[in-house]
Amino acid sequence: MKDFNFDTPVDRCNTASLKWDRYGNRDIIPLWVADMDFRSPTAVIEALGRRVEHSVFGYCVAPKSLNEVVVEMLGRRYGWQVDPEHLVWLPGLVCGLNVACRSVAAEHDDVMTMVPIYPPFLTAPVNSKQELVTVPLKDGKEKWEIDFVLLEQSITKKTRLLLFCNPQNPVGRVFNHEELVELVSICSKHDIIICSDEIHCDLILDADKKHIPTASISQEAAARTITLMAPSKTFNIPGLGCSFAVISNRDLRNKFLQAMQGIVPYVNIFGFTATEAAYRDGWDWHAALLEYLRGNSKLVEKEIGSMEGLFMHHVEATYLAWIDASSIDPLLPARYFEKAGVGLSEGSDFGFPGFVRLNFGCRRVLLREALQRMKKMTKSKSISE
Ligand SMILES: Cc1ncc(COP(=O)(O)O)c(C=O)c1O
Repeated sequence: MKDFNFDTPVDRCNTASLKWDRYGNRDIIPLWVADMDFRSPTAVIEALGRRVEHSVFGYCVAPKSLNEVVVEMLGRRYGWQVDPEHLVWLPGLVCGLNVACRSVAAEHDDVMTMVPIYPPFLTAPVNSKQELVTVPLKDGKEKWEIDFVLLEQSITKKTRLLLFCNPQNPVGRVFNHEELVELVSICSKHDIIICSDEIHCDLILDADKKHIPTASISQEAAARTITLMAPSKTFNIPGLGCSFAVISNRDLRNKFLQAMQGIVPYVNIFGFTATEAAYRDGWDWHAALLEYLRGNSKLVEKEIGSMEGLFMHHVEATYLAWIDASSIDPLLPARYFEKAGVGLSEGSDFGFPGFVRLNFGCRRVLLREALQRMKKMTKSKSISE
């Protein structure tokens, strides 16, 4: 059961960790970039060990067995029947977002996305000299929602692509069947391609919710969707750079492959090895992970709910909490929390100033300590006002 003990400390300092190196020796608990502090499943670690032991690290291609494992997993978990020929392997999902922009839209075309959103969604169109159109999500009574009226109003004659994120980073929504049907119907009416980033699809926390791949809802959806997925968030292997696109529309797939030519490197051999092991043998670890994350999520919701000046909606999926801290600072509230010893992501990077994103994919004692620091800071701020 050692595999499942998420309370075991792992020192990530001086391990070339983006998350932990940011603050060096300063006493700031890093709860920002989206990786978790947990060891990956033993199956992954052992498979990598065997690959190292082999000691020849030549160029590689995705093995047939890997494609079979992925196709089987998509069928079993999501009832989604995918032809292995429709898989395109990528060294990262951000790369997939950028390739999608380049393959679907021309320079100066419009590319839409809904904010707040994971920052590379905001830069991918700009990288391709396209016009970024952002549509705010609605801060509903109980949850964040798609504003379909505003979305449709924001479409122009040059809108070619919607960069969509489901489950949504940072608001943690799992979009339901009705929402996906409406989204596809609008995109179909205006002939817009959907790039659906589903990297968080295996991190559904609510027992009564399930992930539905956008492309799986109808033939029409499949024909206009580029799906992006990865094992990286699920099994905590983002540093191994392995993800994939599913594109059933042959024209769209060919354009995507064409846009990758010469600039997108192959996935490395450890990425393939870890992905196959994780998808084949990592699911018991994953079930235990979800239980642990549910506990962390509950703690975050309870504590944030009790803090002066902070508000968040329930997290349906992901290990990310999206917190309204605009009464602390309407522009850059993460600065305040950093001074209090907690490193959060700044909402302005997600196109939504006044908010912070908290990554609770860490040991519970560390999370508790961070929340205590935040509580102390919010208390002293409200007393000083
Ligand atoms: C929605 C979303 N897409 C993509 C990524 C990053 O993917 P990759 O590291 O494979 O480029 C993240 C990482 O946090 C994410 O949250």
